[in-house]
Amino acid sequence: MNKHADIATEFTNFALRITSAPTRNMRRIDRETVQKILDTADIVEVVSDFVSLKRRGANYIGLCPFHNERTPSFSVSRSKGICKCFSCGKGGSPVNFIMELEQMSYNEALRYLAKKYNIEIKDHEMTSEERERESERESMLAVNEFAMNYFENVLNGSDDGRNIGLAYFRERGINDAMIKRFHLGYSYDRRDDLYRTALKQGFQEKYLFDTGLCYRSERGTVSDRFRSRVIYPVFTVSGKVVAFGGRTLRKDKDVAKYVNSPESTIYRKSYELYGLYQAKQAIVRKDKCILVEGYMDVISMHQSGVENVVASSGTSLTEGQIRLLHRFTENVTVIYDSDPAGIKASLRGIDLLLAEGLNVKVMLLPEGDDPDSFAQSHTSEEVEAYLAANEQDFIAFKTAILMEGVEKDPIAKSRAIQNIVRSISIIPDSITRTVYIGECSRTMGIDEKILTLQVSKYSAEHAEKQERDAQRERNRVSAGLPPDPADDAVTELTPVAGSTSKATAENSQSGRSDAAFLYPYERELIRYVVKYGMCYLCDVAVDDSGETRPMNVLEYVSQELRLDEINLTDPMMAAALDMSCRLALEWPEALENEKMRLEERRNADMAAGIDEIRESAEDIASIETREKELTARVNARYATAKEDFAEMFLQHNLLSCDNDNVRRITTDMVSSRHSLSKIHTKYTHIATERDRLAELVPLAVYNLKCALIECEIRNINSRIAQIYKSTPDNLEQITELLTRNRELNNLKKELSVYLGERILSPHGRH
Ligand code: CTP
Ligand code: MN
Repeated sequence: MNKHADIATEFTNFALRITSAPTRNMRRIDRETVQKILDTADIVEVVSDFVSLKRRGANYIGLCPFHNERTPSFSVSRSKGICKCFSCGKGGSPVNFIMELEQMSYNEALRYLAKKYNIEIKDHEMTSEERERESERESMLAVNEFAMNYFENVLNGSDDGRNIGLAYFRERGINDAMIKRFHLGYSYDRRDDLYRTALKQGFQEKYLFDTGLCYRSERGTVSDRFRSRVIYPVFTVSGKVVAFGGRTLRKDKDVAKYVNSPESTIYRKSYELYGLYQAKQAIVRKDKCILVEGYMDVISMHQSGVENVVASSGTSLTEGQIRLLHRFTENVTVIYDSDPAGIKASLRGIDLLLAEGLNVKVMLLPEGDDPDSFAQSHTSEEVEAYLAANEQDFIAFKTAILMEGVEKDPIAKSRAIQNIVRSISIIPDSITRTVYIGECSRTMGIDEKILTLQVSKYSAEHAEKQERDAQRERNRVSAGLPPDPADDAVTELTPVAGSTSKATAENSQSGRSDAAFLYPYERELIRYVVKYGMCYLCDVAVDDSGETRPMNVLEYVSQELRLDEINLTDPMMAAALDMSCRLALEWPEALENEKMRLEERRNADMAAGIDEIRESAEDIASIETREKELTARVNARYATAKEDFAEMFLQHNLLSCDNDNVRRITTDMVSSRHSLSKIHTKYTHIATERDRLAELVPLAVYNLKCALIECEIRNINSRIAQIYKSTPDNLEQITELLTRNRELNNLKKELSVYLGERILSPHGRH
């Protein structure tokens, strides 16, 4: 258990490191400058920018900016260079303080301080390529900054802006303070006013295109992207403008309601949350974040005094956004307008929040309201009161929605329960899971034990993976023995005995025993498919040119069976194989998506690691070694994550496929009961099974082939015996059978030679 907890913590830390990686401005600061910044920053001055301090003895004291309090417990010591809250414990050096308060990375905090003290940051360590990329980012950010000011000026300082844009915001009840705080703007109904203004001010055309502010049409004319729209700038968590959303004020349907900046080197939509920059301090203070859909929802809520609000901007939440949120709080409340279709559609997205370990609440607004209209039509007290009174636990909410109207339909009910159980099973914390199981058992009227069983089946895959990872970490030494299939086979034989007898064996008599004889071999082979189907197995030649392509376990197994026209005798094993092949069709796309995701993670992780090194390293030499180690570590982790994904793909999908039998055998095959049985653990086979697929899978295939030959030999022998008994002079047939028998024996020998005499014999029921 402890081990699991460690891994979970390790993973969380990993996730946090990823998310705390600043995604931009990763320019490194040389050591000398870092020292200068640290030496110069005065803790009292730094804190004073945020907290009003009073002298008390040798120290200063004020209200803690990290939590709500009436009596000051935030103390600052100039001589020690630190601050600390005696109530909540937060504080530290000037850098720590800024990092915590502004939720910045180490690097960003240093930059903040450098700016405050006019310390110039030299960048002589960067390669020219790095510098180029960095200056490209900076240029894009600068252009965006310019554009934001431009839009604001148009809104506030032009006739069109005031008469159209500002009038619109007024009509929607937005006050000046919010217009300023969110830097709202307006764009003229002119083709290229921004473009020409930007060029006049010396901005390069390239960056206007790169940021998507302008584009060139096919005919070669340049246009502004945002025209005749009110503008919502999108800020990063540290306040840089990376994108814009422009809303049309026209009502006609043929104009897109919103135009948004395209993704670019500085803007990745799925990693930003609208309003976070303005909300982050309130989120930390209240230790809660409210999630809404749109720009106006955020702004109106903010105006009504509820400042801990962010928007996913219309799309469903992404993992990147969730991780970002998690930096600030564990508690998320999702607000829904009460449209049933919308609610059902977004239930899935919420599972992502659960999986990230967040505590998720949901809230329905009165019918017909969205957060914007609700906040606009109520006083801030009413809004606060409504929030406090109407939050609902997500699992309870989901249960209520899914269970509605399924009472009389057992199948629909069981599907609903499965769905809820799955949500519970992805909650990382086991105590929370248990609490939910108890609650659901009561509300759904289902035995707690049964729910627990279901939940643990769903989480078996996670658990086993954690076990295996732990094993792998502890013991990377391969123990040269292949697994003994008997261990798995024997434990499983009894429960499925009924099904083997169903095996369709036309050759009546021997059919039953053939199936029983073959079963352990088939099961062992399918176990590899189920557990490792998408994992890389070997390279195979594409043609005679010597070119090769990678082949995975499933492909290899299907091909081997197909070439020798082998059909699995056990119907469940056959079904599992069949289902695997069908699921494999979805694999290329899933892999592509995962690769992109992992690539981003890897980059972010590198950046975070470099930050950490900068923070703690003593000298340049140690920075270099540590950075080398970091690269190796991060790359290894990336590679492992990719392999893990391949490994989980089939299991995961098989465990939730619509075939009961396939689900059941998959559960049996992947659950830790088998893989962690004593024999395996003793020799730590499981730790290296995946590493040795290239050896083990062909072995399993050949074992099955040998078993099939063995079967046929046995059948021939009994036929010969029969013929001897009934028609002993039918020499022709007997000779024929003996010849076949000899052929088969030779084939068996060839096979075993081919395998280097390594044929294992699973002890089945022969
Ligand atoms: N959105 C978008 N592009 C669209 C439609 C919507 O980016 N074509 C995003 C915007 O972030 C928008 C959010 O999805 O704020 C919610 O969309 P919607 O409810 O249609 O707009 P509102 O924000 O409610 O806009 P308004 O209240 O001004 O009508
Ligand atoms: Mn709206």
